[in-house]
Amino acid sequence: MAKRVVLAYSGGLDTSVAVRWMIEEWGVEVVCVLVDVGQDVESSESFEDIKARAMAAGALECVVVDARREMAEEFCAKAIMANARYEGKYPLVSALSRPVIVRHLVAQARKFHAQAVAHGCTGKGNDQVRFEVGTHALAPDLEVLAPARNWGMTRADSVDYAEKWEIPIRASKEKIYSIDENLWGRAIECGAIEDPWAPPPDEPYTLTRVTASAPVELTLRFAAGVPRAIDDVEMELAELIAVLNARAGSTGYGRLDMVENRRVGIKSRELYECPAALALITAHADLEDMVLERDLAHEKARLEIRWSELVYDGMWFSPLKEAIDVFIEETQRHVTGEVRLRFEAPGLLRIVGRRSPKALYDYGLATYDAADTFRHSDSEGFVRIYGLGVKTWAHRQGAKNATPPSS
Ligand code: ARG
Repeated sequence: MAKRVVLAYSGGLDTSVAVRWMIEEWGVEVVCVLVDVGQDVESSESFEDIKARAMAAGALECVVVDARREMAEEFCAKAIMANARYEGKYPLVSALSRPVIVRHLVAQARKFHAQAVAHGCTGKGNDQVRFEVGTHALAPDLEVLAPARNWGMTRADSVDYAEKWEIPIRASKEKIYSIDENLWGRAIECGAIEDPWAPPPDEPYTLTRVTASAPVELTLRFAAGVPRAIDDVEMELAELIAVLNARAGSTGYGRLDMVENRRVGIKSRELYECPAALALITAHADLEDMVLERDLAHEKARLEIRWSELVYDGMWFSPLKEAIDVFIEETQRHVTGEVRLRFEAPGLLRIVGRRSPKALYDYGLATYDAADTFRHSDSEGFVRIYGLGVKTWAHRQGAKNATPPSS
């Protein structure tokens, strides 16, 4: 058993209890690592408060790392380029933050000469998979511990445990939702949501409360697949995402209500709010329609599905995911241009214009007006040869009965 453990610490009940529990039950030393991936620390709390809680729980040290820029420039940027939406819907909010956290856990484990890392996930979710597979991909020698999978405590037991050890937690015995957030959005689980027939409650939403009157219009500028400016104001990606979360979210855009397939075989009903993520992916995909050659676009669409599944499944640092990254990056060389977004009514986004210096869209070829440059006569031979096989087959095997069914 490890002597020193680096724990992915959030400041919540479970990870706070985990510090003391691992010390008591496993006799280890615990170093906490709090990775800032853009989670909104509740208003009256600061990272200093959270750090103090880790120390009160018995941690040897609590390191806070600001990973917002890294999360945006590397992880969110790749997700945008991949138009990444698991099962066609979920933009991988939690799935994207885990490999960022894992990388810092491993780095701190090395720094503190630890033999293990730990996380506070239960046995029912995807996040345990992402922490463990991710750690083993970067550091196959490190052990991964999952105290919450071992301790068999209910939430009420954990609250009692925290009281007993005088760990200053803010949670109550009844917790309504389980919420995970970062700059890419918020994931909401548990409570009333577990009935898939019940309409989603309003209260857990924070980013998508309607405060602006529709329509709200803005223009996004992309360079090589990555968004770089809103309405001609250039920003770092982390800031651009935050600005767009506020502007798009204020129109009520960005909510998802879905039943998804977890890696561990469970179907779960989830709510998400991720206005910037959904708007950026929608706009990026629209720009690609202007610039990507047809076969490339179609092949990319197939690989996007695989990429999203791999990232959802905790395979960020896997050879297949990294090989697909290289393909996707190559496709993005000319994904440069602008997209106009109009948030029309609560929850509704329409793309109303796009332009690119790299566009394959050719007005002369597309127009039905006098400016037409397309050589219509070429189509005659093309269509004849294209359909030749079917025509030969019909001659030889007998044409299908062309009479429509009488109604
Ligand atoms: N179902 C989502 C995923 O697997 C979100 C998980 C969020 N975690 C949480 N504790 N609420 O990526």
